[in-house]
Amino acid sequence: MEPSLLTVRGVERSFTVGAQKLTILKNIDMHIPSRTLVMLKGRSGSGKTTLMNIIGGLDIPNAGTVQFLQYAMHTLNDQQRTHIRRKEIGFIFQTYALMPLLTAYENVELTLRMSGVPRKLWKERILECLSKVGLAKRAHHRPSELSGGEQQRVAIAKAIAPKPKLLLADEPTAELDTLMGTTVMAVFRELITQENMTICMTTHDPSILEVADDVYEMVDGTLHAR
Ligand SMILES: Nc1ncnc2c1ncn2[C@@H]1O[C@H](COP(=O)(O)OP(=O)(O)O)[C@@H](O)[C@H]1O
Ligand SMILES: [Mg+2]
Repeated sequence: MEPSLLTVRGVERSFTVGAQKLTILKNIDMHIPSRTLVMLKGRSGSGKTTLMNIIGGLDIPNAGTVQFLQYAMHTLNDQQRTHIRRKEIGFIFQTYALMPLLTAYENVELTLRMSGVPRKLWKERILECLSKVGLAKRAHHRPSELSGGEQQRVAIAKAIAPKPKLLLADEPTAELDTLMGTTVMAVFRELITQENMTICMTTHDPSILEVADDVYEMVDGTLHAR
């Protein structure tokens, strides 16, 4: 097996709603090798986002372990996980999650500020990331002046700016047409080869699943390798 960037073992996650205990994730095992593109498919409500939140340290499991690099994420408190996240993990969402009043440049700058990268390195890295996603010429546009595909590419530039080891993308192509979806996937492939990143994403799209190195399917909170 490839060296693992992230290993999930026996993860369970349940929520108590009223008097009921809902078990959303059941005994999940997952292995994400370095420099691969891993995709997670499954019906809406099957638990994909709940698992992505645990992989990214936004949430912790009720049982089981999450080993990311040298970190046993399930043993760390919120503050410790936030610290690791800001340096080592980039997040991309279906709805882009950009700051509407900031330009593309300023949106990317914001993550660098949060992750503690020295200010003197910002400009070069921002321009490098925006050109990686083909948006160098759009640096001073606000999100409302960009197409959906362009906004998602700004979101990618924003997520990769601090050079995270792991990029997590929850349905990143769901709002995009086929061509823009293909462009985003080409950018992901380049990030793996050029920036040594590892990517885990969710999708419903069969044509996009073909680009994956590994595919998992979530079925009612149980994960199956495909
Ligand atoms: N904080 C929560 N409290 C209660 N139920 C939740 C919570 N988060 C998620 N769920 C439930 O867990 C199930 C799986 O949700 P989710 O992980 O968002 O699925 P998916 O991303 O595959 O659509 C859903 O039924 C959802 O309502
Ligand atoms: Mg979801």
